Amino acid sequence: MRIDERSWPMIRNTWYVAGFSDDFKTGELQGHTITRKPLVMWRTGAGEVVAFDARCSHKRFPLWDGKLLDGDVLECAYHGFCYNSRGECVSIPAQASGGTPSKANKVAVPVSEKDGIVWVWPGDPSRQSGRGVPSTLEIGTADWDTRCSEPMHVPANYRLLIENLLDITHFYPLHDGNIGDIANSYIPVELERQVIDGNPSVLTTRQATDYQLPPMMSDWFGLDIVDRHHTHCMVSPAVTRVELRLAPVGKLGSEDERGYVLYHFHTPIDDDNHVWRWAMNCKAGLKYAADQSMAMVDRVVEGFPKVVEQDRWALEKQHEMFQHDDDGYSEVHIKTDGAVVMLRRELAQLAAEEA
Ligand code: FES
Ligand SMILES: [Fe+2]
Repeated sequence: MRIDERSWPMIRNTWYVAGFSDDFKTGELQGHTITRKPLVMWRTGAGEVVAFDARCSHKRFPLWDGKLLDGDVLECAYHGFCYNSRGECVSIPAQASGGTPSKANKVAVPVSEKDGIVWVWPGDPSRQSGRGVPSTLEIGTADWDTRCSEPMHVPANYRLLIENLLDITHFYPLHDGNIGDIANSYIPVELERQVIDGNPSVLTTRQATDYQLPPMMSDWFGLDIVDRHHTHCMVSPAVTRVELRLAPVGKLGSEDERGYVLYHFHTPIDDDNHVWRWAMNCKAGLKYAADQSMAMVDRVVEGFPKVVEQDRWALEKQHEMFQHDDDGYSEVHIKTDGAVVMLRRELAQLAAEEA
């Protein structure tokens, strides 16, 4: 299959992250646009998160600007059409004795809450089977210390973020001096296609021994020369899992091992925008080497926004250049772009299945 560099596959038949569980407070209305679908969401009095089309059936007014009444009834702020938590229209003030037309009912959007994450399925509800909700086991368990980001709006297609995550040769020069250096670019990469919980997945693995850690990582973990095992796995179009394992030479797997499991959640808004969230996890109880009063995860997270900002900057700039006509231009791929090519093929395949 020939992959068009400029195509932005909008995959709807998959689970996307709408937020962390803690982001959904009981009775608080939220608006999300995911794969161009406007959704109104809230956590009901019974504790369940619900979602449906945010356009009022009457005149498209955004229901996220409405009001929740007693009994989990959502009232549109314009003319007062009311909906229950299943999206059924239950009353219309201007038609007090006339009932409600069934056409005014909304179809509930599938929501799943798992491992501290709220997932939504913006696509065809009848096509969920076989595509599991991704697991993020480290989040919300006592075995790991977890810190979650705020949602970040990125004016770029979400595919560019996944490509960024699967190709860490950009650690030099983009992250030079913090988590990156030129030595990073010399670590050979192994590539593997997998299926995880029914979701197509791309895994890259980089292993190095006698490796001098770049300054920021050396500080985070209190290590200098290490054995390093680093994987990046696009678990589904919605999430990339990064696992970094470091230890003094010969000590991987021992109690001297350090590192993190980092989840990146990429939720497309439309072709030109996405929301990026991350969750950083270090083993519970590990301390920052230079200050034992500080959890290791807190030290890592202190430095991390700077790295994320560098990536965000690159994605935005890269996306801007797609506004120009190709006019003979095409990308030149090198050996280390294997994961990006594989990813594009997987996304194109998913998009073709939906079409
Ligand atoms: S637009 Fe919502 S009630 Fe009229
Ligand atoms: Fe990066």
